[in-house]
Amino acid sequence: MTAIDDALRVLRSGGVVAIPTETVYGLAADASDEAAVRRVFAIKGRPADHPVIVHVASAQQLTEWASDVPPVAWTLALACWPGPLTLLVPRAARVLDVVTGGRPTVGIRVPAHPMTLELLERFGGGLAAPSANRFGRVSPTTAAHVRADLAGAVDLVLDGGPSPVGVESTIVDCTVDPPQILRPGGITAADIERLLGGELAATSGPSRAPGMLAAHYAPRCRVVVEPTSARAQATAAELRAAGKAVDVLDPGPDTVAYAQSLYGWLRSADERRLDAVVAVLPPAEGLGHAVRDRLLRAAAGSSGAVSPTDPSDPAG
Ligand code: TXA
Ligand code: MG
Repeated sequence: MTAIDDALRVLRSGGVVAIPTETVYGLAADASDEAAVRRVFAIKGRPADHPVIVHVASAQQLTEWASDVPPVAWTLALACWPGPLTLLVPRAARVLDVVTGGRPTVGIRVPAHPMTLELLERFGGGLAAPSANRFGRVSPTTAAHVRADLAGAVDLVLDGGPSPVGVESTIVDCTVDPPQILRPGGITAADIERLLGGELAATSGPSRAPGMLAAHYAPRCRVVVEPTSARAQATAAELRAAGKAVDVLDPGPDTVAYAQSLYGWLRSADERRLDAVVAVLPPAEGLGHAVRDRLLRAAAGSSGAVSPTDPSDPAG
């Protein structure tokens, strides 16, 4: 019996399994089993009206979960899946309300992780899976993070090693023209615009993806963001002078490495009982957009933002 055999058995009997993905770990249940999906919400402590993403094994399965798949969705699915991209498409009639939060759309993606892809191929159906953290905590990027949040509450944790991308998938609403990014993530706006050969709608106003609250991406300690290393060191020195336990998050200009380490670092800040973290914002390019988005939300959520809205970040 492999771990994947065990996971299949649990999922087929209506259980809940934490699954590795390339972005963050997910908390998965059979998307066609209402009671199982409800258990995911109960374990996370997530409000019932927050929709969850359906994970499938291939783009061909879009037609099982969506009705009238928009051409842009096909283009993006065929180019980016498996990969860190979630497409919002019109739901098929069979999709449960508990999955969509009663909305007319459903979020779908094919994750790029070999264990979870094998699981999905053998399972055949869809797995409804939000990030495998307790509601309001930072998303998990290792099996140990999942166990720290949910040990005892889930039936099985499938350990697939550290999530290589480290931040959640990009969410693109394909039901509007032009399509709109609702959450910057592992695939950049520039990649998507190149694939579609046109511009995306500007992201403005409050996000239409429910549940993207500031607190979702925040550790318990205060988060302060600064544009440069020098400014971060100065702010940290001021906070230390005021008696605070502070550390600086400054992984340098490599936005891929920054995204990989971000959530683990924020979790360790809480384990170390820091009062505050001062994070240097990465450049607004590539995965830097997603990292900036999460850091600015975390900072706004903890009243620690130096610049809560960041006009230099078009995808933010
Ligand atoms: O990378 C990811 O996307 C990870 C891995 C596990 O796949 N999943 C993830 O799920 O981040 P979750 O539930 O933590 O965040 C999904 C976001 C939520 O803000 C949810 O409200 C939004 O996607 N969402 C899902 N379906 C939606 C829909 N039909 N309409 C609007 N927003 C939707
Ligand atoms: Mg989440």
